[in-house]
Amino acid sequence: MLRYFTAGESHGEALVAFLSGMPAGLKVDQAFIDRELWRRQQGYGRGGRMKIERDRAHILSGVRHGCTIGSPIAVLLENKDWKNWTEALPVEPGDPAKHKRVASPRPGHADLAGVLKYNFPEARYVLERASARETAARVAIGALAKLLLRELGIDVLSHVVAVGGAAVDNEVAWPAVAELYQRKEVLLNCADASAEARMKEEVDRALQTGDSVGGVFEVVAHGVPPGLGTYAQWDERLDALLAAAIMSLQAVKAVEIGAGIIAASSPGSAVHDEIGYEKASGFSGFTRTRNNAGGIEGGVSNGEEIRVRGYLKPISTLRWLLQSVDFATREPIKAAYERSDVCVVPAAGVAAEAMVALTLARCALEKFGGDSMGETQRNFCGYLEQLKKY
Ligand SMILES: Cc1cc2nc3c(=O)[nH]c(=O)nc-3n(C[C@H](O)[C@H](O)[C@H](O)COP(=O)(O)O)c2cc1C
Repeated sequence: MLRYFTAGESHGEALVAFLSGMPAGLKVDQAFIDRELWRRQQGYGRGGRMKIERDRAHILSGVRHGCTIGSPIAVLLENKDWKNWTEALPVEPGDPAKHKRVASPRPGHADLAGVLKYNFPEARYVLERASARETAARVAIGALAKLLLRELGIDVLSHVVAVGGAAVDNEVAWPAVAELYQRKEVLLNCADASAEARMKEEVDRALQTGDSVGGVFEVVAHGVPPGLGTYAQWDERLDALLAAAIMSLQAVKAVEIGAGIIAASSPGSAVHDEIGYEKASGFSGFTRTRNNAGGIEGGVSNGEEIRVRGYLKPISTLRWLLQSVDFATREPIKAAYERSDVCVVPAAGVAAEAMVALTLARCALEKFGGDSMGETQRNFCGYLEQLKKY
């Protein structure tokens, strides 16, 4: 079974990710992993932190001579900013006068709920772990999951659908999503140039006013065969697993699969994807005229592209715009401000790709098994044959 954890504080020495259950013999491409980390750091509206960090995955275990060996994989990501925090956030007691307090909780962040839960006098430790810096660790192991999926012909990418009130009008086809991945510079990772320009205006407005914006990303998984996930148990449904995976990302407040939201107010005839048959087509010859289901029916992948969207609330660190209470005096005060992003929709999309890749890799390994890539691929190819002959 594929299992993973992360550890690390936002301004601590490093982030660490653990991934166990990967078959042996998967080629590990360091440049690919580091490019994924770079992609997570891009996007118009990121804060100063991203100028400091140049993430690189330092693989500590589970990979030898360029391939996985079936043992747990541990990956370390250094925080370059740590050198500025050694006295503010030391592991040892240190000098309390040099510790950096967070004077008041930010509405929308984990600050207040966290201090009440863990009985902290202020929110430093809360934001250190609640921060989405943690997603860098997920992206590192997500890249390994992507490498596994590629061996099975599956690719996972994302694009931005909306920033604030600016949105793309039509579904973005896979080639346009794949084209975005090739770009050497990322603005808002949107496939529609005019929508992207409007998205940039939304960010500019937030930058000028000290506010922030949210938005919507879409992750597309291309080449997924029918049969991943199952309706047999509630917690094995692919839609449920993907929803939890995406919702687990910081600031995601809603998840949509396919045309889920509009479907709720549309008649069945306009929603459900009619079925046809064309012998040599796709995995099994069965065809669809459209993909409102987002590639999942009954909790099982149906052979169409998987399309899942994450809806992000606006960043909760604002330049002194929101009211809060001083932890020390309980007097009214503006919510604390600390260097922050203003818009993170493209980056959240990259983190969501990692979560989708980890989820699909887990389902694929549950279905096809295999302690080595050869075994996994043999089982996978046997299943593809079965689908062709159906
Ligand atoms: C990639 C990414 C970067 C983020 N950067 C910031 C940031 O710089 N400042 C901030 O206040 N929130 C940032 N957030 C959002 C917070 O992590 C989020 O608001 C906080 O965890 C509370 O949201 P939650 O209730 O969903 O956990 C970021 C989120 C993502 C996905």
